[in-house]
Amino acid sequence: MPGTVCVVASINVDLVVTAARLPQPGETISGGRFSIHDGGKGANQAVAAARAGARVQLIGAVGDDEHGRRARAALEREGIGIGRLRVHPTEPTGVALVVVGPRGENQIAVAPGANLGLSLEEDDHALVGSADVVLTSHEVPAEAVLDALVAAQHAGTQAILNPAPARPLSSDILRIGPILTPNEHELVVSIGNEVTESALDELLARHAGPVIVTQGAAGALLAVGADRERFAGFPAAVPVDTTGAGDTFNGVLAAWLADSAALPDAIRAANAAASLSIGAAGARAGMPTREEISAVLDG
Ligand code: RIB
Repeated sequence: MPGTVCVVASINVDLVVTAARLPQPGETISGGRFSIHDGGKGANQAVAAARAGARVQLIGAVGDDEHGRRARAALEREGIGIGRLRVHPTEPTGVALVVVGPRGENQIAVAPGANLGLSLEEDDHALVGSADVVLTSHEVPAEAVLDALVAAQHAGTQAILNPAPARPLSSDILRIGPILTPNEHELVVSIGNEVTESALDELLARHAGPVIVTQGAAGALLAVGADRERFAGFPAAVPVDTTGAGDTFNGVLAAWLADSAALPDAIRAANAAASLSIGAAGARAGMPTREEISAVLDG
């Protein structure tokens, strides 16, 4: 029986221009190629977890518009439970403007729209409480994130907070102690200390749970109290689009933990999946199945 993951987070549609290079501030770059992809950190993470074999429920919000209908259909195609998906009566579905450069690097600006209207109700608390793992992130209001973490704590559900995009972490969150998965930029912003090493020490001094610092192709660092363990990244093909690599890491981490994997094994699987995810255009196209992840781990 696969584990269950409840994702409380954002849903966007990504409007993408693939360009010869990323523009500088104030610069216009022409000659790019336009495409539309399904996105949003929460929805992407839900898809990554579902492809990795978890049964997934998504609590989130879209607008009453074409983008919202597209986002809903994409989630349904992945077999994700959307019984608690709200349709905001006035705000549009979140949109991300993404520019992808020649090495798969990106620049993203988000108009969150309906995502900012998300607040949790009793039925959502029950859904969080019935899951093996809850996964949340920062593209929805801070109150919704905290509410999900509190509901998880009350129910004994394991919680992961991907603190992206970067914002300072509240003392309430640090006290609850979800697994945190910042990249290096999110790490320094989350604790308000610009030096990566001392930021990690400071975060661990105040945070009750483990911290996994994601480092792109280099892999990830697991820090628990004074202990540090490094997990090397897996060799990847030439990157086409790194959008969604972090989301893949988080979704697969959640799926593996929901399936009772030990944290180091879940990190290895998440690293393997992230390395596979960057080989196709769009946040979700390269996200691997459980079999594909296992093949890399066994390989
Ligand atoms: O993490 C990638 C995602 O960030 C994109 O899909 C975009 O929607 C933004 O939310």
